[in-house]
Amino acid sequence: MIYLDNAATSLHKPECVINAITDALKHSGNSGRGTHSVCISAANTIFEARYRLASFFGASRPNNIAFTSNSTEALNTAISGLAEDGCHIITTEAEHNSVLRPLYRLEAERNVQLSFVRANSRGLINYEDFEHLITDKTRLIVTTHASNLTGNLFDIKKIADIAHKHNLIYIVDASQSAGSVPIDIKAFGTDVLCFTGHKSLLGPQGTGGLVIRDGVSIRPLKTGGTGVQSYSKTQPPEMPTRLEAGTLNTHGIAGLSAAIDYLNKTGVKKIHDREMQLTKLLYSGLKSINGVKIYGDFSMFENEKPNVDASEFPGKTPADILNPRLSRMPIVSFNIKDSDSSSISDILAESFDIASRPGAHCAPLMHKALGTVEQGAVRFSISYFNTEEEIYSAVDAVKEIANGI
Ligand SMILES: Cc1ncc(COP(=O)(O)O)c(C=O)c1O
Repeated sequence: MIYLDNAATSLHKPECVINAITDALKHSGNSGRGTHSVCISAANTIFEARYRLASFFGASRPNNIAFTSNSTEALNTAISGLAEDGCHIITTEAEHNSVLRPLYRLEAERNVQLSFVRANSRGLINYEDFEHLITDKTRLIVTTHASNLTGNLFDIKKIADIAHKHNLIYIVDASQSAGSVPIDIKAFGTDVLCFTGHKSLLGPQGTGGLVIRDGVSIRPLKTGGTGVQSYSKTQPPEMPTRLEAGTLNTHGIAGLSAAIDYLNKTGVKKIHDREMQLTKLLYSGLKSINGVKIYGDFSMFENEKPNVDASEFPGKTPADILNPRLSRMPIVSFNIKDSDSSSISDILAESFDIASRPGAHCAPLMHKALGTVEQGAVRFSISYFNTEEEIYSAVDAVKEIANGI
C-alpha cells in the first residue's frame, strides 16, 4: 500500500519505537505507586520521556510536560481549565473539532462568548483580526499551528505577541506540526502547547500531552489517584501530578520517548526538508492535471521567497526555528472536478492501493471557508518515509481517475 494518510496517523514507526514499547510491556510496574524495581523502571521511563519532550519543545523543566492520551484530551484540559465563566475566547475558522467542540461546550454550559478569525478561500488568516476582536472580557486565544486540511502553517509567534500585549493566555494546537516543524515554546512565546504522539512525532496512539510555560496554572479536567498525598481530598497542586490523575500509559510513553530520541538523532529540520521535497513534487504533479483543484497556500513553491525574519527570534536563526522552506505541512488536499471526495478516495484505495482521507476532516469551518462542505476534499499527507516513486504513482493515479471523469 502507498500510505498517504499521515496527517490522520503515521503508519511507519521507527523500529526503536516498537522495541521500546515491547520492552516497557515486559518491565513496567505502575509509576509512583511503589518502590520495587518495576515501579522504579516505569518511573524512570516516564521521567526520561518528560525530560526529552521538555528539551524537544523548549520547556523550561520536565515537570512542565503533562501526559494525556492524545491532543484532544490535552486541548480539553487546557481550554476548560483556563477559561473563566462568562469570558470571551478568540479562535479561528481553521480549527479542528478538538478545539471547536470544547469551545462550543463552554459557550453552551459556561456562558462563554466566542469570536472567530475568518479564513479566506486559500485558508489564510489576517493576523490583525485578533487585535480587532479583543474585548475587556477576552481571556484566551486558541489556535492551531497548522491546518489539518490545507496544511497551511500559522505564525504562532505573531499571535503570541498579540496575546501577551493584551495579557491573554495563548493555547496552541500542535497536533499536526509537532515532529514535522521545529517548535520552541520559549522562542514562539506560547503559554500552552498541546501535542499528540501518533502523527508526525512517530509515537504510538494513546499518547500526547501539554507543554506549559512557567507560571500558567490549569484547573485539572480529571481528579483521582496519583500515588501521592492520598489523604488529601483534592488533586495535588504541583505539576505534573496536577494534570495526571490515574495510571499513565507507560508503555505508550516509552514508545513516544524513543520516537523523540529518533527525531532528535535524525533532525526535525532534515525531516521537514525531505517532506517539503516530496510535497513540492506532489503539488506540482497534481497542479498540472486538468480538472484538479488544490486547496491551501502553496506560494512557497511558486516563489522561493523567505517569509520568516530571524530578528523576530532572539538568539535563533530561521534554520533553528522556521526555515523559509519550512513554511507549510506536507499535506495536499484537492478535488477532481465536482466528484465527491469519498468516491475518489475509494477509487484510490480499491484500484490503486493508495490511502488518502476524504470528507470533512473534523474541520467544518475550514471546509465552509474553502467552499467544500458538500464535496469534501481528498487529502494526501506525506511522511518522511514516503518515496519519490510513491508520489509519482499517486499523481499518475489521480491523472487516470481525472481522465476517466
Ligand atoms: C489539527 C488537529 N487537532 C487535533 C487533532 C486531534 O488529535 P487526536 O485525535 O490525536 O487527539 C487532530 C487530529 O487529526 C488534528 O489534525
